[in-house]
Amino acid sequence: MENIIKDIDIISAEEAQACDYKTTEDENTGKSKKLYIESYGCQMNFSDSEIVASIMKENGFDTTSDFEQADVIFLNTCSIREKAELTVRKRLSQFNAIKRNKPEMTIGVLGCMAERLKEKLLEEEQIVDVVVGPDAYRDLPNLVATAEDGNKGVNTFLSREETYADISPVRLNSNGVSAFISIMRGCDNMCSFCVVPFTRGRERSRDPHSIVREAQDLFDKGFKEVTLLGQNVDSYKWSPEENNKARLNKKEGEVTEVVNFANLLEMVALISPQLRVRFSTSHPKDITDEVLYTMKKYDNICKYIHLPVQSGNSRILELMNRTYDREWYLERVAKIREILGEECGISSDMIAGFCTETEEEHQETLTMMDIVKYDFSYMFYYSERPGTLAAKKYKDDIPLDVKKRRLNEIIDKQNKLSEERNNLDIGKVQEILIEGESKRSTEQLKGRNSANKVVIIDKGNFKKGDYVTVKITDCTPATLFGEVVS
Ligand code: SAH
Ligand code: SF4
Ligand code: F3S
Repeated sequence: MENIIKDIDIISAEEAQACDYKTTEDENTGKSKKLYIESYGCQMNFSDSEIVASIMKENGFDTTSDFEQADVIFLNTCSIREKAELTVRKRLSQFNAIKRNKPEMTIGVLGCMAERLKEKLLEEEQIVDVVVGPDAYRDLPNLVATAEDGNKGVNTFLSREETYADISPVRLNSNGVSAFISIMRGCDNMCSFCVVPFTRGRERSRDPHSIVREAQDLFDKGFKEVTLLGQNVDSYKWSPEENNKARLNKKEGEVTEVVNFANLLEMVALISPQLRVRFSTSHPKDITDEVLYTMKKYDNICKYIHLPVQSGNSRILELMNRTYDREWYLERVAKIREILGEECGISSDMIAGFCTETEEEHQETLTMMDIVKYDFSYMFYYSERPGTLAAKKYKDDIPLDVKKRRLNEIIDKQNKLSEERNNLDIGKVQEILIEGESKRSTEQLKGRNSANKVVIIDKGNFKKGDYVTVKITDCTPATLFGEVVS
């Protein structure tokens, strides 16, 4: 689910490992204090920052885009690779100077790094006042108030129930067209390289009613696209008995049966044909034919699947504890092609240089890419994370220069495949949803087709939020260009 909203561009091994962040924007509703949040990592974290902003808003804070104006600064952090943590450490040291001039300012570290390091962060980073894990955000106002009185605080309690279902997120950095909805939290998969199960806790699914309500509310406010988010959306499962015995009543409209991901997709798709539905991330072991048929049934469910393979070699996949092998993955891709056709976009995440990976095994990742023909990928070299199964069991034995060389080969391959796939779109007529102005010209607009590719068109009389039918005329590896079909 890494950086899923980033436009694809040609990147290097160094850039692939780097970490972007998003900040809050200025909002002035007359509250007495200002909150600045900087969010790192995946879309789940960005979505959490919207929940945090909502909780703080209820407690007297407007958001700001200028940290120098802020009474409270939160860094919502990521631990996925070492680089992600180092970026935050560096940022904290930059905030030191500001805090020296404004000692009353509260600085909080939230998210995955907070959960991983707990009290240690207070010891190691003197500047930090509060450390709060992803399941403890309701406690933030309380902890901030305590910090204002000069007492540092930590809450990294991981919950089995918390889904923040009742909290309406404040939409940060939103283009007013598409929004993200968290449908589940945590992860039970224990991929051996991954820190997420430790930082996000056990997997739990959110009440489908609250999801549909949130999507409906967004649609009523003019949004045209929602992306359902989870580390493993295909294992979404909500049963009233398990999740909340108190809800087991027969009120009208109350769901009393188990809802799986295909059911949930359908419930959201039915809100309106004018509301596009996307989702991320799909784990190859869990994506079912039922989900694929539901995607086929509704035009407004976008034909795009982020299906991270990580490696194309079965031995490495086993060491990674991904619980599928090369053949299983290829069978799932064949099913996607059979049910949804060639035009369905497929993207992936790749890890180069996992423990003990041989040159031949690395080659299998490249041949996997050739067979699947991914539209794009998020590509990384392996970064050992403390406490994970891989860190305990296997030696991180691939030298950094080899990891980087393998990663560059994967990136080169992906750039070629992206161009090849984009070329196939030339001449096709597609519906795009306009998201705003193109980055390069105010005379052009940027939209996305169903397969999640960016399409640039001349502005004409169109505006953000319009659905426009276009014929694709040209492409680069990263972008399609289209002409409006009248
Ligand atoms: N839940 C998603 C992945 C979330 S993490 C899934 O299962 O696909 C996003 C991506 O970061 C992963 O898919 C993986 O490619 C990468 N990643 C995770 N841990 C990593 C590590 N230790 N080193 C390098 N890349 C890693
Ligand atoms: Fe990490 Fe695996 Fe869970 Fe994805 S499915 S978050 S890679 S443990
Ligand atoms: Fe996301 Fe990073 Fe945490 S990828 S779940 S913010 S470790």
